[in-house]
Amino acid sequence: MASLFSETLLPTTTELPEGYSVRPLQRTDYQKGFLDVLRVLTKVGDISEEAWLERYDWMAKRNEEYFIICIVNGEGTIVGVGSLVIERKFLRNLGAVGHIEDITVQSSEQGKKLGLRIIQTLDHIAQQVGCYKCILDCSEKNQPFYEKCGYKLAGVQMVYHI
Ligand code: ACO
Repeated sequence: MASLFSETLLPTTTELPEGYSVRPLQRTDYQKGFLDVLRVLTKVGDISEEAWLERYDWMAKRNEEYFIICIVNGEGTIVGVGSLVIERKFLRNLGAVGHIEDITVQSSEQGKKLGLRIIQTLDHIAQQVGCYKCILDCSEKNQPFYEKCGYKLAGVQMVYHI
């Protein structure tokens, strides 16, 4: 099964409900509810499978940069997702920063610590690939969740809408 990145970057164990597992995004995940989970977070649009595969292949060619994980339930349906994008820098001795993006858990599956496990898994991958920190933007509503995941408030989010 084609995976976006190597499973060896995942933690050796992840505490999840019985039958659930965490894995890298796979090329067949269009059929497994990936976009439905993203729709819990925001507008996704009407994306064809062909367009989805084109974007997947673009990311797979950059698989030292794009790390998308899925939590899958016992039936093989995707119930939680999260992304880590690696930014490589000149400063801090050619350091790297992990950007945590698009964390979302299917509404019926929230409150089972899946969000926490997604963040812990992405933080682990970031450490494995040499990041010195991870950062993210979120709404005030989600601030307590990220604090439970060990994140601290730092700075102000700015946006320029194009
Ligand atoms: N306010 C206060 N505490 C919270 C909240 C909240 N909004 N959400 C979770 N928590 C707490 C839980 O109670 C739990 O605390 P505990 O350890 O004391 O029991 C802890 O945080 C871990 O919660 P999980 O069960 O892991 O959270 P869940 O699996 O429900 O996922 C998430 C949280 C991802 C925010 C989920 O509610 C969701 O998908 N929301 C809709 C999409 C969204 O807003 N995503 C975040 C976008 S920001 C970004 O992507 C960078």
